[in-house]
Amino acid sequence: MNYSPPSAPNEKAARTNLMLVGIAVGFLVFAALFTKNLWGRVEPRKEIPLVDKKFLETTPWRKTYADFVKAKDKDALEDYDCYGCHEKNKAPPIRYDKAGKILIPKEHSDIVMGHGSHDRNNLCFNCHNEQNLTTLQVRDGREVKFDNIPPLCGSCHGPTYRDWEAGAHGRISGSWNHANEADFTRLSCANCHNPHAPKIPTREPAPGPHLLRANPETHATEATH
Ligand code: HEC
Ligand code: HEC
Ligand code: HEC
Ligand code: HEC
Repeated sequence: MNYSPPSAPNEKAARTNLMLVGIAVGFLVFAALFTKNLWGRVEPRKEIPLVDKKFLETTPWRKTYADFVKAKDKDALEDYDCYGCHEKNKAPPIRYDKAGKILIPKEHSDIVMGHGSHDRNNLCFNCHNEQNLTTLQVRDGREVKFDNIPPLCGSCHGPTYRDWEAGAHGRISGSWNHANEADFTRLSCANCHNPHAPKIPTREPAPGPHLLRANPETHATEATH
């Protein structure tokens, strides 16, 4: 018996083709409208400039005696050879001008005194030991070497010293676990403050964080909340 399929599948195929053509035309129309840019486009993201490297700089601002010893910096260490110039057992005389301001001899011209807003702590022997210039004298009577500056500062700046020990002032790097001294480093007061003029000069603030939005300026008020 001959079997001839009914005509229905052909009709179905024709309808499918018509639909595909319709969809294709529809897409072409959309494509044409898109290229005309009738609705406007999302603005491209602004290029985010990289943060200036100076804000990422972690090198300590100052080198201390301890750093010079570690680096074997002979030139810098000459300044600490007090008895290369001074006589032992004889405190150097301190001279003042008529206004009562300390006169710095030319041999120490690299020193600019300015400790405290009214030069309140400019007297050399508040910190240096006049009996032994190679040591510092802590207010409680202890003598410390130049490689151990914080107890000296701490004897007058108790609260700041406490904060520094706790890690809230200054800078600690390395491990959070402070059980082992070898696992972390703590910057000395003099890595940031010049003991002779400890005020930190005002600095330009680092830029704020970048917003992860296409057009931050249109959201400016929102972002400050
Ligand atoms: C290059 C030589 C030299 C070195 C090194 C040196 N001094 Fe002096 N210092 C002098 C001279 C010179 C004077 C003036 C002395 C005088 O007037 O009798 C002086 C003066 C001083 C004064 C008195 C300052 C004033 O304003 O009147 C102090 C304090 C002092 N020195 C401390 C030190 C200490 C502490 C060291 C070591 C950390 C040191 N000096 C290293 C040469 C030196
Ligand atoms: C607030 C404490 C303090 C006062 C006040 C002070 N010094 Fe110092 N001085 C120090 C400390 C701490 C160091 C070691 C600095 C370091 O290692 O960075 C030092 C370092 C020095 C040095 C060796 C390094 C250098 O900068 O040449 C000399 C010399 C010196 N002081 C002289 C003086 C003289 C002179 C005066 C007084 C006019 C004076 N100091 C006042 C704390 C002080
Ligand atoms: C003998 C006491 C004494 C010692 C030691 C001392 N300071 Fe001071 N310090 C003062 C006084 C006093 C002031 C002034 C406070 C004021 O003017 O209100 C001051 C002010 C300061 C300031 C504020 C900035 C300024 O100049 O006004 C800083 C920072 C500072 N000291 C850091 C240090 C550091 C770091 C050391 C150790 C190297 C140190 N001090 C050692 C007494 C001391
Ligand atoms: C990593 C750097 C750093 C170290 C380490 C550091 N300081 Fe400071 N210190 C600063 C800065 C930054 C300020 C703020 C200066 C300002 O606000 O003008 C400051 C402020 C201060 C002031 C002014 C008063 C205050 O508390 O605001 C004192 C006093 C002081 N430091 C003492 C010390 C002493 C003492 C030590 C060591 C025991 C020390 N600092 C270690 C960076 C440091």
